[in-house]
Amino acid sequence: MAVITIDGPASSGKGTVAKKVAGQLGFHYLDSGAIYRALGLMVINAQLKKNDIDAILNLIDKMKLSFTNNGRVILNSLDVTEIIRSENVGMMASDIAKISEIRSKLHNFQQGFNQPPGLVTDGRDMGSVIFPQAELKIFLTASVEKRASRRYSQLHKSSDSVTIAVILCDIMKRDKQDCERSSSPLTYDHTFKVLDNTDLSIEETVQTIINWYNLSGKC
Ligand code: C5P
Repeated sequence: MAVITIDGPASSGKGTVAKKVAGQLGFHYLDSGAIYRALGLMVINAQLKKNDIDAILNLIDKMKLSFTNNGRVILNSLDVTEIIRSENVGMMASDIAKISEIRSKLHNFQQGFNQPPGLVTDGRDMGSVIFPQAELKIFLTASVEKRASRRYSQLHKSSDSVTIAVILCDIMKRDKQDCERSSSPLTYDHTFKVLDNTDLSIEETVQTIINWYNLSGKC
């Protein structure tokens, strides 16, 4: 079964690109960040402290998470698709994602998405930890300014109060935390293909990945 992993820093376009690659190949899609975000939302709602590991591990047992075919994220029967995208949920997700016990407990759940005919998944450790044997492992990145401006355009549609300066700070903080944590940091090695899409459109990024996939195993 074919697996394509797309890892990269915040707002590098991983989700949009991964979804389109999956659509073109007819593969399943897993947004692993949504799992950490959904758990982050549960932690916020339960008013737990981010270092209360036992209580958070218990929450995972209560987490019933599913993804619908039209891209909605359902957490314990509630549609949380929009709310998990907020900056505070993203930051909580990044905080709890540092904890190795939490990452281990989510490991098998993520691997369960590898179903025929194939899977495209995006996150921070999909190629390094969860699917190290994937056929194609991409590290997708872009300049921090470009990523902040993309995120600003997304958020600005729903809230006038966001500023690009705040978003830039949040992204830099989250990048630092995701890269410097000891448990499954955001990283890549020679088994990855690095794609900097600062100056590429979504379609050009998708096409590059599809071309690489079609060539994989042939050279
Ligand atoms: O990809 P997204 O920005 O939605 O992820 C939210 C947070 O979840 C990230 O900042 C990261 O800390 C965490 N995450 C992770 N491993 C993954 C996916 C996301 O640690 N595979």
